[in-house]
Amino acid sequence: MNDTVVKNIKSLILPKKTDQPLKGQEMDELEIIADAMVVIDEGKIVYAGAVTEVYDAKETIDAKGMIASPALVDPHTHVVHGGSREHEMSLKRQGVDYLKILEKGGGILNTVEQTRNASHEALFDKASKNITRMIQHGVLTVESKSGYGLDRENELKQLKVSREIHERFPIQMRHTYLGPHAVPKGRDNEEFLNEMIELLDEAQDYADFADIFCETGVFTVEQSRRYMEAARKRGLKVKIHADEIDPLGGLELAMEQNAISADHLVAASETGKSMLKDSDIVAVLLPGTTFYLGKEKFADARGMLDNGGAVSLATDYNPGSCVTDNLQMIMAIAALKLKMTPNEIWNAVTVNAAHAINADKGTLTEGDEANLVLWDAPNHEYIPYHYGVNHAHTVIAGGRTVYERPGLLSY
Ligand code: NIG
Ligand code: FE
Repeated sequence: MNDTVVKNIKSLILPKKTDQPLKGQEMDELEIIADAMVVIDEGKIVYAGAVTEVYDAKETIDAKGMIASPALVDPHTHVVHGGSREHEMSLKRQGVDYLKILEKGGGILNTVEQTRNASHEALFDKASKNITRMIQHGVLTVESKSGYGLDRENELKQLKVSREIHERFPIQMRHTYLGPHAVPKGRDNEEFLNEMIELLDEAQDYADFADIFCETGVFTVEQSRRYMEAARKRGLKVKIHADEIDPLGGLELAMEQNAISADHLVAASETGKSMLKDSDIVAVLLPGTTFYLGKEKFADARGMLDNGGAVSLATDYNPGSCVTDNLQMIMAIAALKLKMTPNEIWNAVTVNAAHAINADKGTLTEGDEANLVLWDAPNHEYIPYHYGVNHAHTVIAGGRTVYERPGLLSY
C-alpha cells in the first residue's frame, strides 16, 4: 500500500523532465492533464497523471478541484542578509540612480554594514521568515547567495547561515559564494578582488557556485574572467550578475566560461542573446528588479526565446533592488512586462529554474521527490493573471503537507 494519494485534481501541470534546459519553442510546451491524481510513497512520486487505476493509500488528500503543479524553484536570491533599506525608497523617488547610491557607500554597502553587525542567529532568524514565506508561496527549492560580508569572517558567516536554513527547513537549497559583489569603501578594486579569489579556497566547502557582480563601477569583464577562471580551477561552477545596467558583455563572458547561468541580462547585446541557443546556459531573468528600480526597459525575454534560448525566472529577493520573496509576483511581471506566455512562465519557474542551479527538482515524474503545490485557481493561466496575492493552498514537501492556507479566525 502507498502512503498518500492526492485525488480530485482538476488539472495537473507537468513540465517535461529533460537533461538539458528547455529552449526556445520547447518552453511553450507544457503537458496539462485534466482530472488527475498523484500517488506518493516514501516521499517520492509513484504516479502523477490522469485518474486511471485505484491506488490504495494510507492517507488521502482531497484537492477538491484545485490545480496542482511541481513546487516552484527560485534560482536567484540574496535571502541571507542583515537589516533593510526602506530609506532608499525616498532617494529613488528623488531620482537618485541605483549605482550612484552604491558609489556613495549606500546600497549594497549599507547592507554589508548591517550584515557584519548581525550575529549568525540574527541572520538565521531573519532569513527563516523569508524562507517560511517562500514555502507558503509554493517554493521548495531556493538558491541563496553570500555577498554582504565582503570579508572572510562575514562571507563565511552568511554561507553557514544558508547551510543551516537548508538543514532546518523542508527545502532543497543551493549555496553561492558572491564575495565580489561590491568593493568596500576605500579599498583598491584589484587588491580586494584578489582577496575574494583567495577566499574561494574556504568558501568552496560551503558553496555550490561562485558568482560575481560584473557592472560599471563594480567589476569589469576582465576581472570577472579572472575570478571565474580561479573558481573553475577549484572545481566550482560559475554564475554571473551580467549586463544588468550597462552592456559590458557579461553574457558573452558567461558563455566563454561555461557558466551554468547568466543572470539579469537587461542590457545584454544582440550577439550575446543570439548565441544563447547554442549553449546550455540558462538566462535567469529578474524582472522584479527592473520593476522595483523603476526602469522602463525590461530584459528582452521574447528575443531570447524566439531565438532559441533557455530562460528562467527568479525573485532576486534582496533588500535593495527587489524586495519581494513572492515568486508568483515575478510570474505576473513576466507575463505583463516580458511578454512571456503562461507555459513559458511555468517552465521558467520549475524545470529551467532547476537547471539554472543544478537541482533535481521542478518535475513530477516517477521517482522524483514529492514536492508539489495545490493552487486555489481555476487554471494555470490564472496565477500570473491575478497578481500580487498568494494562490498556493497546500504545499507538500517530500510527501508531507507542510503548509495549508489558514482561513479567517471566528468572527
Ligand atoms: O542582484 N545587482 C547586484 N546585486 C543585487 C542587488 C543587491 C542590493 O541592492 O542589495 C541584485 O540586484
Ligand atoms: Fe542578485
